[in-house]
Amino acid sequence: MTARKLRLGVNIDHAATVRNARGGHHPDPVRTAQLAIAAGADGITAHLREDRRHIRDDDIRRLKRELTRPLNFEMAATREMEAIALEVVPHACCLVPEKREERTTEGGLDVVRGAQDLTGLTRRLKGAGIRVSLFIEPDPAAIDASVRIGADIVELHTGRYCELALENDHAGVAREVARIAAAASLAHQKGLEVHAGHGLTFATVSAVARMPEMVELNIGHFLIGEAIFSGLDGAVREMRRLMDEARSDAGVGGGSA
Ligand code: PXP
Repeated sequence: MTARKLRLGVNIDHAATVRNARGGHHPDPVRTAQLAIAAGADGITAHLREDRRHIRDDDIRRLKRELTRPLNFEMAATREMEAIALEVVPHACCLVPEKREERTTEGGLDVVRGAQDLTGLTRRLKGAGIRVSLFIEPDPAAIDASVRIGADIVELHTGRYCELALENDHAGVAREVARIAAAASLAHQKGLEVHAGHGLTFATVSAVARMPEMVELNIGHFLIGEAIFSGLDGAVREMRRLMDEARSDAGVGGGSA
């Protein structure tokens, strides 16, 4: 396989979480995104949830207007979000499952049972020139369904891997890394662009970054938290460095796209 650059997408949802804790405008997620880009982010991700718990409608519009890098709009597969996506026309939409009571996106989309609805939505978004990504579990059935739905991209959920790493479950980590690697390889073979994300940290990013089929990693909560200690610039630069180092060690190319 030819050397492939790995993109870093920074998810800025939790700058908005901190802002919303007190109302008002500080810290501004758009300024957060601009700083992340200056530090080496290749793109910005923001999730407009139905309950608007962090990112708000106006943030999405400002991000699209003011950013110099692609906006990845994370959204549930609902009519409301579809209308916003078609109005804003982000670079990409990442379709995710959404439950009101969850603290974060807990699992991948049920692309097998939800295929019918997702196929129509994917067609309409693509028709507007938006790239469509499906956030899925790293499973062969989910990859096959994503191909049938017509997605451009699959984003593989790394949450389980990162949880096992926090529990120091080494056998579990090895099993989960192998599952993600196999899914990345299969998705690539089937013509899908491969992204990954959820729960990634300085400690867990390398094992995913070294997978040759990976094109983009989307990382949020850890970077915003780490910014308290080392600043956002330092946190993003260190993540970028670890990603590049992992790729260079694996001989699959580093640097941003
Ligand atoms: N990718 C997707 C599809 C997500 O839903 C999230 C969380 O919003 C992320 C990546 C980033 O996860 P984290 O904030 O845990 O880094």
